[in-house]
Amino acid sequence: MAKPIDELIVQDKGLVSREIFVDEEIFKQELSRVFARAWLFVAHEDQIAKNGDYVVSKMGTDTVIVTRDMEGEVHVLLNTCTHRGMRLCRNDMGNARTFSCPYHGWSYSMDGRIVETPGDLAGVPGHATYYHGELDKKDWGLVRAPRVKVYKRTVWASWDPDAPEFDDYLGDMKQYLDYALDGRDGSPGNNEMIGGILKWRVPSNWKFAPENFIGDNYHDISHRSVDLVGINPSGGTGRRDDEPEDATTIGFPKLGHGVIGEMPYQKEPESAGWAANPEVSEWYRKCHDARVERFGDEHRVSMTVGTIFPNMSFHGRQPRTIAVFHPISPTEMEMWRIFLVDRDAPDAVKDMARHYHLSYSGPGGLTESDDMENWSYATDSSRGEISRSIYFNYEMGLGHARVVPHLEGAVENGEFTEENARIFYRRWAEFMKAGSWDELFPGKGPGPGGSRGAAESAPADAEAASV
Ligand code: FES
Ligand code: FE
Repeated sequence: MAKPIDELIVQDKGLVSREIFVDEEIFKQELSRVFARAWLFVAHEDQIAKNGDYVVSKMGTDTVIVTRDMEGEVHVLLNTCTHRGMRLCRNDMGNARTFSCPYHGWSYSMDGRIVETPGDLAGVPGHATYYHGELDKKDWGLVRAPRVKVYKRTVWASWDPDAPEFDDYLGDMKQYLDYALDGRDGSPGNNEMIGGILKWRVPSNWKFAPENFIGDNYHDISHRSVDLVGINPSGGTGRRDDEPEDATTIGFPKLGHGVIGEMPYQKEPESAGWAANPEVSEWYRKCHDARVERFGDEHRVSMTVGTIFPNMSFHGRQPRTIAVFHPISPTEMEMWRIFLVDRDAPDAVKDMARHYHLSYSGPGGLTESDDMENWSYATDSSRGEISRSIYFNYEMGLGHARVVPHLEGAVENGEFTEENARIFYRRWAEFMKAGSWDELFPGKGPGPGGSRGAAESAPADAEAASV
């Protein structure tokens, strides 16, 4: 039996128990307390560009279908037939008017309702005869996520009708997410996906990845080989000493989000790849000038990588990416990578970004491989009877955080610190203990919720918080 949450995360000492990375019972509670409540990234709008488009995604261990109905509205539907549970959609993506279950033929429209047609052939076969017209079709539509938000071409959802508004969930972290989703010149939501989405499995607990992205500059020694062959983001050829001097970690303790950022805004460093191509280099220079022109002195942030609690991370600088870490089991996750570029960028820029992404990220990416190796071995070497009983050390910079005056609820703690990791695990502990969003978000109140039918997956009761 695992310890109570406050013994698993010892906040004043910066200790985190290895149990939370390997224990089956804790993993099950994470699914209900974290993944069934938090706002989760589910798709990019390029995957559902036209009416009738759909893409299969994940929320926790559930698979969902993200659809755009014939009126253009976006829905997130649990991908299981309500009759006997058949996996309804077995394609990754496509375009359709209805989903028909291969088992007994129940059919659903793109908003999840059972198709209403006269006669016995569609909707529920045999409705008028075998069911004697008595089955109430409106009660048996697909389970829909009650909260869905499309934000700057990204789609998010929550199973909890009481979740706060997405904007409140982001807080002032929003401007860092914007840095990734806006164009290089700051034009709002100017992004498109390069190609498809990369998906692969890693024998690692899912939390290692967002923890890494939230502010672990310390691990850069892992990537020394990548730096030596000159494919790191800033184009250096040795160690990563060429990062801007004002780099710091900025975290949001009440929200669980954080970034490695710079204050004030600094020009993105020119990578070796950009410099080698005058057209690319010139385009970035113009974008930088336009960004400064657009925001002036008000523009105070830029950033490299960050995490939106719990499992979405992103690169803010070019090359921009979205990474999502789906839990599979305590010791396995499925990683997704989406690569972004400005929609109106010249072909040379898009080409450079595509080549860069494939060498840097993903299952074959040189840099991502370094990280995956660390997370996998750390997971595996924490499974043993003795090793699982000890703690990880998150002491670096403990007690040295400073308030960031221009960002609500933010602290910064220098370039090398474990402050943001502590923030991530503090928020994780709050989710694991809290009985409702009132406890998680005091003062903000619940969001509108329930407007399109709440999911069944309500969070468990507070008494069961300690594991
Ligand atoms: Fe889908 Fe029976 S399981 S129609
Ligand atoms: Fe790394």
